[in-house]
Amino acid sequence: MAVPEKVLTNDDLAAIVETTDEWIVTRTGIRERRIASERETTATLGLKAAQRALEIADMLPADLDMVIVATSTPENIFPSAASLIQAWLGANKAGAFDLSAACSGFVYAVNMAAQAIRSGSIKTAVVIGAETMSRILDWQDRGTCILFGDGAGAVVLRASGTPGGVLSAVLRSDGTGGDLLGIPTVGSLDMHVPDTLPNGHKLHKMHMNGSEVFKFATRVIAESVHQALEMANLSVRDVKLIVPHQANTRIIQAAARALKLDESLFMLNLDKYGNTSSASIPIALCEAVQQGKVQDGDHLVFVGFGGGLTWASMVVQWGAPEQEERQRFNRQRRQLSYVGAYWRGRLARLSRQVAEAIARIRPERGRMSRLRRRLDSYDIE
Ligand code: UT7
Repeated sequence: MAVPEKVLTNDDLAAIVETTDEWIVTRTGIRERRIASERETTATLGLKAAQRALEIADMLPADLDMVIVATSTPENIFPSAASLIQAWLGANKAGAFDLSAACSGFVYAVNMAAQAIRSGSIKTAVVIGAETMSRILDWQDRGTCILFGDGAGAVVLRASGTPGGVLSAVLRSDGTGGDLLGIPTVGSLDMHVPDTLPNGHKLHKMHMNGSEVFKFATRVIAESVHQALEMANLSVRDVKLIVPHQANTRIIQAAARALKLDESLFMLNLDKYGNTSSASIPIALCEAVQQGKVQDGDHLVFVGFGGGLTWASMVVQWGAPEQEERQRFNRQRRQLSYVGAYWRGRLARLSRQVAEAIARIRPERGRMSRLRRRLDSYDIE
C-alpha cells in the first residue's frame, strides 16, 4: 500500500465546512484521511503500491503480463493510469488497462486477472486500486468531502499449481441507480456543458445521495457475500476475515448484523484513511496481513460497493505460491528496471522531439532550394 504523508483530521475539516469531529466519528467512524500532495497523482501512488507488492512477491517487472488499475480518478481518460505505471515499472511485456467500477473496482479487477491466469492466457498480473479522491471532491459539500481520502493498494497474482486463490466472485451492477453517486465530467456526449449541470451537480465534482447509497450498501453486502460463499461451497463459519470496502462503520455494523457475524470478523481501518474508493480494500488487506490477521490457507471475503451502482463479493483462499529460490539480485534488478524505465521514457520522448524538429526543418530546406533554382534560372542574385 501507499498513502500520502499529509493527514487531514476531522478538526481540520471543521475549519472548512460546517461539521464537527463528533458528527463525523459517530456517523461514519472516520477520524482522519490522507491527502495527496501537488506532486502525487493516482498513478504515482499506484506505482509505489505496485513496487511494494513486487518487492514482497520478489518478482521482476519484466515478468508481469498484465497491469490493471481500478480507479475513478485517473489522470486522463487515456492514456490509462495503468499504462503510465506499466512504463514507469519497466514492465515491458505487460498489457495495461484501467477498470472503472468505482468502489467495487478492485474486486472486479482481481477477478479479471485471476480468470485470465486460470484460462492460461497470462501467468502474472499486478492489480492496483488507486485514487486521488481529494481532486474531485466538492470541498463545500459537507455530505461528501468529509468521507473520502487518497491512497493506493496493490496485489500480485501469479499462476500456481497450489489450489487456492480466487475461489468465487459475484460481480453485479444496477445502472438504474447511476444518478445516486457520480463524477460528471466531460464525456463523449457533451463537450459544451456549463460548470453546473441542470440537475445541480457540479462538473468534475463528486456528488452522492448518501442515505440512498447507505441503504443500497447494507442490502447488497450480506446478499452478495452469501452468494459468493455458496459458489465456493463454503459457509460464513469458514471465513477467517472479511475485508469490506471502507465506507462507513455503520454500514459494516449493519452488514455484520445481517450476516449474523461478529464485527471483529471485519477488517476496519477507515478511521485512519476514510473512504479511498477502489483503494480501500487492498489498503485494508495490506494492514490485515501486516497485523498477522491473515495466514496461509485462510478463507477471506472481499466485498465492494459503490457508484454505478456496482457491487462485488469474492472468496479468496490466501496463500503465497511455493517460493522458488529467491534470486539474490532481484532487488537490484528491480531498481535497475525502474531507472532504466525512467531513462527509456525520457529518451523515447527526446528522440521524438528531435525527429519532429528535423521534419520541420526539411520542408523549409526543400522550399529554399526550389526558390534558389528559380532565382538562378532568372540569373538574379
Ligand atoms: O464509497 C461509495 C459508497 N458510499 C457510501 O457507502 C456512503 C454511504 N452513506 C453514508 O455513509 C451516510 O449516508 C453519510 C455519512 C454520507 C451521511 O450520514 P447520514 O446519517 O445518512 O446523514 P444524512 O445524510 O441523513 O444527514 C443527516 C443530517 C442532515 O441534517 P438535517 O437535514 O437532518 O438537519 C445533514 O445536513 O446531518 C447533516 N450532515 C452533517 N452534519 C454535520 C450531513 N453531513 C454532515 C456533516 N457534518 N459532515
